[in-house]
Amino acid sequence: MNDTLHQLHCFGCGARIAGAEAQPDFRCVHCGDLFEVEYPGWGKRDGHDRPNPGALKWLWRERRCSSEAVDRSGVWRFRELLPILDSFGDVVTLREGNTPLYHLKRASKALGIDQLYAKHQGMNPTGSFKDTGMTAAMSVAKERGFEWVACASTGNTSAAMAAYAARAGLRCLVLIPEGKIAWGKLSQAMDYGAVTCQMPTDFDGCLRLLTQVVKEAPIYLLNSVNPYRLEGQKTPAFEIAEAFGWNVPDHVIVPGGNLGNSSALGKGFRELHELGLVARMPRISVVQAAGANPLVRSFKEHHATALEPVEAHTRASAIRIGNPASWRKAARVIQDTGGWCLDVSEAEIAIAKAEIGAEGLGCEPASAVTLAGLKKLRAQGKIASGETVVLVLTGHTLKDADYTINFHRGTLLKEDEIAGLEAEIAGLRRDAVAVDATPAAVLATLKGSVR
Ligand code: F0G
Repeated sequence: MNDTLHQLHCFGCGARIAGAEAQPDFRCVHCGDLFEVEYPGWGKRDGHDRPNPGALKWLWRERRCSSEAVDRSGVWRFRELLPILDSFGDVVTLREGNTPLYHLKRASKALGIDQLYAKHQGMNPTGSFKDTGMTAAMSVAKERGFEWVACASTGNTSAAMAAYAARAGLRCLVLIPEGKIAWGKLSQAMDYGAVTCQMPTDFDGCLRLLTQVVKEAPIYLLNSVNPYRLEGQKTPAFEIAEAFGWNVPDHVIVPGGNLGNSSALGKGFRELHELGLVARMPRISVVQAAGANPLVRSFKEHHATALEPVEAHTRASAIRIGNPASWRKAARVIQDTGGWCLDVSEAEIAIAKAEIGAEGLGCEPASAVTLAGLKKLRAQGKIASGETVVLVLTGHTLKDADYTINFHRGTLLKEDEIAGLEAEIAGLRRDAVAVDATPAAVLATLKGSVR
């Protein structure tokens, strides 16, 4: 870990410490809040460590043609903006990042927004955006000589951590809420060799427990309270800006769970702006599931000055989180960029997910809250037709195949959840049909299919 170029800055009381001084739970000893990585050299105009925007843009593009693993990673390609390691030669990478930005043709048309895109973070090596953060924090863990790493998870963090730990040759411990994570994700943790503890509690309970465990044993905590995770997770902001020729979109819409990702993307865009790589920030909006919406409530009831934990319920299990750790950081991002914080119902999530599926992209339910949220913002007149919008799709559709199959079979949602939306849902469902094994039966099925 390179302690000369970066320091940790407490988000609550402003205390500054060296990276090596961080507590095992990454909480500030003075106020209990979380840290952000800060690069003091960047603040000095013409300072030796201040990156040069023109040179960086050229260098980052050139690296796309390189055959070096560190250059082919969509995180480490931008390493000048995350100088956290002593040596980039030993990064733990699976060639994460460099994910596609797709035009959403059907949704564009339906919503009357020409420039509507999906940044598909589900196209990362383990199928979620967590890989971009894991390569960064796992590389720090390895450099610092840890043997064990650990996380509490709703599934994707554990899948990513297990893969990167295996690549790094480290052991890993996963705490998950029993019966509450998607099979695809659990299978990944098993496959990559994690020690997986299923516990009779929720995600928030798992994280609370793990915080105690890491204080008693030399285990490196890899939840997004670890500020180095967020350094990796800020890089999709760089990719988005680069894809638009260093003109940022008007809106970026992100799902909200533990709220690390929205914080990280906000930090990424803020740094690009402060360093003069882009002229402005996009509005960043966070969408939660209505049954797991503590940040939405915090905005409504306390102007985001306090957050009361909720008992979380949603089928979008990735964001079934009632006491998000990074809520203050995310609230600041929304406020500073003029974005919104809103929630969407279970039926709205399911419909949006099916619509993203019908674009040939697919995503997991938690990712679909972005399109559901966009529809609401558009209906409220908060997003104009000429504006450019990027939805951040956080996970791959195969992560939670049960959810998709149940939707198409009509067994996902309860009657009271779909009241008034029956026709819309029926138009999206594509259940498999049992057909006789004859050409005539197959052709008859084609005739009967609607588009
Ligand atoms: N989307 C997906 C697919 C996720 O897995 C998560 C979080 C989020 C969105 C929310 O991101 O927490 O940074 O606000 N999953 C974590 C996990 C909590 O354990 O895999 P966030």
